[in-house]
Amino acid sequence: MKFFLDTASLEEISEAVSWGAVAGVTTNPTLYARVGGKLQDFEQHIKKICALVKGPVSAEVTAPDTAGMLAEGRALASLADNVAVKVPLTLDGLAATRALANEGIEVNMTLVFSVPQAILAARAGARYVSPFVGRFDDIAEDGIEQLSNIVMALGNYDFAEDGPRGTSGPHGRGVEVIAASIRNPNHVTQAALVGADIATVPFGVLKKCAVHPLTTNGLAAFEADWEKVKQA
Ligand code: E4P
Repeated sequence: MKFFLDTASLEEISEAVSWGAVAGVTTNPTLYARVGGKLQDFEQHIKKICALVKGPVSAEVTAPDTAGMLAEGRALASLADNVAVKVPLTLDGLAATRALANEGIEVNMTLVFSVPQAILAARAGARYVSPFVGRFDDIAEDGIEQLSNIVMALGNYDFAEDGPRGTSGPHGRGVEVIAASIRNPNHVTQAALVGADIATVPFGVLKKCAVHPLTTNGLAAFEADWEKVKQA
């Protein structure tokens, strides 16, 4: 499983890239608002993110209709070679995805909550499909079970000819499943166990993934014993 970073913070991206595990970035309007982003700076901000990471950077359209999504999607895709246009799973979004995919533009279909939605996204030519885990948990449903169903269902088929980039991803050739709305390291564990291709993870959660109390305690013991060695 690859890690994407789920943030619009340049500082967080720079730091996490230095840890060596960040294969891409996902943003959304909420994450851009969270870093105090202004509308007129949006495109420059996406360009800066694209310069920080080699992998795909998801930048989301905000128009509700196909024509608006297409115009925004084309503009976003022109910002850098590694932009993936993020499009919501609506009927307008599916039409925009089909058109963008036909132009060779990578699309990440977002706000995916069911197997039929995921199959529609893949058939529309989406390069990435993003089921949201935590938002199911928020309403007392099992987000990992839904993610697992989507991974298994897409894995039954070959979508390579539907997408813009031929084959990729062990599940559902031609499309990769991004476990999104990840809230804690256990979500990361479960996403890996059910075979998600990618987990897009907030900075704080990625940091927590590196921490284990036995690692911390073990290091403290080594340091204490090394002091004894130095004074022996
Ligand atoms: C990423 O693609 C999603 O937009 C993000 O993971 C949503 O996370 P949230 O449910 O915590 O807002």
